[in-house]
Amino acid sequence: MPVHTVGRVQGTIDPADHPYLQGAWTPLHEEVDATDLKVLAGQVPTDIDGVYLRNTENPVFQAIGRYHPFDGDGMLHMAAFQGGRVTYRNRFVRTKGLAAEMEAGRSLWAGLLEDPARSTRPGWGAHGSLKDSSSTDVVVHAGRALTTFYQCGEGYRMDPLTLEAEGIPPWSPLDGISAHCKVDESSGELLFFNYSKHAPYMHYGVVDRHDKLVHYVPVPLPGPRLPHDMAITKHFAILGDFPLFWDPDLLAQGKHVVRFHRDVPSRFAIIPRRGATSEIRWFEAAPTFVLHFLNAYEEGDEIVLDGYFQDDPMPRNYEGAPAGYERMMSYLDQYKMGTRLHRWRFNLRTGQTTEQRMDDRILEFGMFNQRYAMQPYRYAYSAVQVPGWFLFHGYVKHDLQTGQSWQVQLPEGQYASEAPFAPRVGAKDEDDGYLVTFITDEAAGRSEVALIDSKRFEEGPVCRIELPHKICSGTHSCWANGADLREGGLLAPAR
Ligand SMILES: [Fe+2]
Repeated sequence: MPVHTVGRVQGTIDPADHPYLQGAWTPLHEEVDATDLKVLAGQVPTDIDGVYLRNTENPVFQAIGRYHPFDGDGMLHMAAFQGGRVTYRNRFVRTKGLAAEMEAGRSLWAGLLEDPARSTRPGWGAHGSLKDSSSTDVVVHAGRALTTFYQCGEGYRMDPLTLEAEGIPPWSPLDGISAHCKVDESSGELLFFNYSKHAPYMHYGVVDRHDKLVHYVPVPLPGPRLPHDMAITKHFAILGDFPLFWDPDLLAQGKHVVRFHRDVPSRFAIIPRRGATSEIRWFEAAPTFVLHFLNAYEEGDEIVLDGYFQDDPMPRNYEGAPAGYERMMSYLDQYKMGTRLHRWRFNLRTGQTTEQRMDDRILEFGMFNQRYAMQPYRYAYSAVQVPGWFLFHGYVKHDLQTGQSWQVQLPEGQYASEAPFAPRVGAKDEDDGYLVTFITDEAAGRSEVALIDSKRFEEGPVCRIELPHKICSGTHSCWANGADLREGGLLAPAR
C-alpha cells in the first residue's frame, strides 16, 4: 500500500478521559495520500465509479474548558473508486480559525459547551463565538467539494479528488451558510439556508450551476432558531422552524441554552425555489425537532417530506456521563431523543399537514439514491446508532412502497460512517448500487472503506479495503459520481 505522508499537525489536545476523544473518536493529525489499498475481504467491484467524501472532527489544540465533538477541526477523507481500484487521501479543512490557532499554538475559541466570553476573538455564524471549523457536512457543487458548519460558517472548498484547498465561495453571504445545503444534480444548483440571532433570523438562497448566487431572500422567523437541515422538491424548497431554540432570556445574558417548547407547533416554510418572501407558505405540524430530512417530492396537491421525528428533543441528562458532559451525552444519544422515520404531507390546496410514523426503530442519518431525489422514491437507508453513543453500527434499508425492511448489524467494536448510496455503473433499478462507508474496527485498531451491495443488503459489507490509518469519527458525507466529476460539473445523467 504506497502511502505518502503529506503533513502532520502538531497538536496539544489531551484526550484525558473525554468520551469523545477516545476509541473511534480519537483525533487524527496526519494527512496522507494512498494508492493500491489492501483489500481485506471481497474484491473491489469494477462497476462503482466515483468519490466518497466524509467530513470528520479532529481537534488539534486543547480545548478552552470542555470539548464538544462538534467543535473539532474539520478533516475531509476521500475514497475514489474507478476500474476496480481505490485511492484514498485526507486533509484538514484549512479554515481561518484553524490557521489562527496554528499560528497561536493554542485554542482561541471556546466551544459549544463553554461560556462564549472565554473565546479570545469574535467567532462565526449564528452562535457568534464559535470557531467555524467547517467540520459538519460536505457536498459537491460545480465540481468542487464544499464543507460547511452546522452553526453557519463561510464554507470551504476543496478539489474533490486532490483535496487541494480552493478557499471560500465568493458568494458566501454575511450570515454564512448552514450545513445541509442541497445540490440538485439535475439542474446543478445549490440551494442553501442560514440562520442568525438578528431579524429576519433566516435566509434562503440559490447558487446556479455556474457558481453564481442567483437568489437570496429573507425567511422571517419569530426569533432566533436552530434549524439544521432543509429539503427540496422540483419546484419548492422546504425550511423548518422548530420549537427547540435558545432560551430568549438567557440569550439576552449571552448564554446559549436550548429549550423545547412542547406546546408550540413545528412549522415548515414552503417557498418556490426562486420565490419571494411573500410567496412562503407556512404549514404547522406536531412539535418536534428534525435533525435530518430524507427525500421530498411533489405528488398531486401534496408535498411529501420524509425525515426523522424526535419524540423528546430535550432529553434528560445522561446518567453516568463524566461531570459536565451529562447534557452533551444525552443530546448525542438518538435513543434519548427518540428519532424515528416520519413522513409529513403538506397539502398545498387545503393548507393541511398530515403525518405518519414510518417505523418504530430508533434511526437517523438517512440516505437515498440521489438520482431519485425530488421524485417518488422507494428505498431509504438509515443509520443505526450504538445506544448512548454518537457512533453507528448498522443500517436499515426501507422499501417505502411495501413497508419491508432489511437490517445490517456490524460486529461488536466496529463503527461505521454515514453511508451515501453510490449507483452501480449502468444501474437500471433504484437500489442497484452500494452504500459506501468508512468502518473503524477498534479490535483491529484500523479503519476501512467498505461497500454494502444494496441488492444483497443483509449480507453486510461485500468489500472491505484497509485505510492507511485509523480515522476519527465525524458527521456527514456524500457521494459524487465519477462521470459527473470528469465532465467538470455535477450533473445527473439524463433520465
Ligand atoms: Fe447534520
